Amino acid sequence: MTKIIAAITGVQGYVPEEVLTNADLAKIVDTTDEWIISRTGIKERRILRGEGQGTSVMGAEAVKKLLEKTNTKPEEVDLLICATVTPDHFFPSTANLICDKVGISFNASYDIAAACSGFLNALVTGAMFIESGRYKKVIVVGADKMSAIVDYTDRSTCVLFGDGAGAVLLEPSTDGLGLQDFILKSDGSGANHLIQKGGGSAYPPTHETIDNKWHHIHQEGQAVFKFAVTRMADVSAEIMERNNLSGDDVAFLVPHQANKRIIDATANRMGVGPEKVMLNIHKYGNTTAATIPLCLWDYESQLKKGDNLILAAFGGGFTWGSVYLKWAY
Ligand code: ACO
Repeated sequence: MTKIIAAITGVQGYVPEEVLTNADLAKIVDTTDEWIISRTGIKERRILRGEGQGTSVMGAEAVKKLLEKTNTKPEEVDLLICATVTPDHFFPSTANLICDKVGISFNASYDIAAACSGFLNALVTGAMFIESGRYKKVIVVGADKMSAIVDYTDRSTCVLFGDGAGAVLLEPSTDGLGLQDFILKSDGSGANHLIQKGGGSAYPPTHETIDNKWHHIHQEGQAVFKFAVTRMADVSAEIMERNNLSGDDVAFLVPHQANKRIIDATANRMGVGPEKVMLNIHKYGNTTAATIPLCLWDYESQLKKGDNLILAAFGGGFTWGSVYLKWAY
C-alpha cells in the first residue's frame, strides 16, 4: 500500500497595513535604529489597530485568500488549527472565529498554544490527521497580534514583536513529497524566563496584576537567547543527520524570526549558506506563530517541487523543534 503523507499544497500570509519603524519606537522608548538592527535584524514591524480587532481578523484574511488560491471550498475543510498565544478570547478559540469569518462551519477547529513554536506543533498535528487517512484537507494557521501584549514602555521587548498571520493547506500526498520527519521538544522549567504571567487562572486579572504589568510579555532576553541559539541549532542539525542531509542537500532553512543572530548561528551549524536562509525579520519582526508561514509565503515563488526544507523554531515554554519536508509544488 502506498504511504500517505501530508504535503503543503498552498500558503498565504496577511500582515496589517500599519508600519511601525525603529524610528517610531525611538520616539517612545530610549532606543536607536542602529541598536535594534545590529542586535536583532529588525527594521520595522506591522501593527493591527482598531477596537475589537483581534488575531482572528488577520487569520481570516490569510485563510480567505488561501481558499481562493487553492480552489478549496469552505465545506471541504475537515479541520482548521490555529497556533496563537494572542487569541481574541480564551474561548471561543481563535480557530472557531476564523472559521466563522470565512464561512467554514461544522468542521473541527481548535487552537494550539506553543508560543513561537506554535506553528510547527500545529503543522505536525494537522499532518498526523492526514497521514492517518482520516482527513483530506487541513488548514494550519499561525497568527499573533503581539502588539496586544507588548509593553510599549519596555525597550527590551517592544522592539522585537509585530503582528501577522500565515496559513497553509495540508493535503494527502502519495508521491513521497511533503512532511518527512519532525522533532518537537519542550521544557517547562523555562517558564519564568518568557511568560505572560497574569490574566490566566493562576493570576486572574485584578488591579494589582494590571499595575504589575503581568498582562504584558516578560522576557529575560539573555537567558532566552542562550537557550534559543543552542536548542534551535541542535534540533536542526539532528534532523539533518538522521535523514542523511548535508548543507548542500537543503534548499532552504525556514527559521522562526526572533533574532537574526540566532538564525545565523543555526544556519552556520547546519552548513547552510545565507542565500539559502529565508529571512523577513527586517520587515515584520517577531510575529510569534506567524513567522514561518509568512516566510514560506514571501519565498513561495522561489520554491521548486522536491526542494528539501528544514523548518526550525524556538519559543516560550520553552518549546522548540524542527521539521523536514519536501516541497510539493
Ligand atoms: N535599545 C537600546 N538598548 C537596549 C534595548 C533597546 N531596545 N534593549 C536593551 N538594551 C540595552 C540593555 O539595557 C543593556 O544595557 P546595559 O548593558 O547598560 O545593561 C544592553 O542593551 C544589552 O542588553 P542585552 O539584553 O544583553 O542585549 P542582547 O544582546 O541580549 O539582546 C535581545 C537583547 C534582542 C532581546 C536578545 O537577548 C534576544 O533576542 N533574546 C532571545 C529572544 C527570543 O528568541 N525569544 C524567543 C521567542 S519569543 C516567544 O516565544 C514569544
